[in-house]
Amino acid sequence: MESEVKLKVKRKAQSRALSVAGKGGYERHILLCMGTNCCPPQASREIAKYLNKRLSELKKQGRNFYFTQAGCFSFCIGGPLLIVYPEGTWYHSVSVEVCERIIQEHLLEGRIVEEFAFARTLNTTEDK
Ligand code: FES
Repeated sequence: MESEVKLKVKRKAQSRALSVAGKGGYERHILLCMGTNCCPPQASREIAKYLNKRLSELKKQGRNFYFTQAGCFSFCIGGPLLIVYPEGTWYHSVSVEVCERIIQEHLLEGRIVEEFAFARTLNTTEDK
């Protein structure tokens, strides 16, 4: 039997179109550091605004990505920093132009933008 808290978080997840059954839901999760130590705050705000606009456009085309504006990643250098899951790919120096490349190449085509990627959680075919 599931706890009351678990039932509540599952209901909230469903309201956000997250998968609670292990399939469906969002294609990828994007986290953007909104902290103030890795880049000027204006830079990450510009990326957040751009991502919200582009992901909203993609949603109308049937693509689903979950975007979180996060606090400090405890890394604090080379921002704006952006992470894409499930690969756990960390990107540095994300400008609007780099962000669009990440959208086109990584989110939509599944290819990591190696030029700006500096760390990852999952191995990809390039690592083998
Ligand atoms: S402020 Fe961005 S990682 Fe710390």
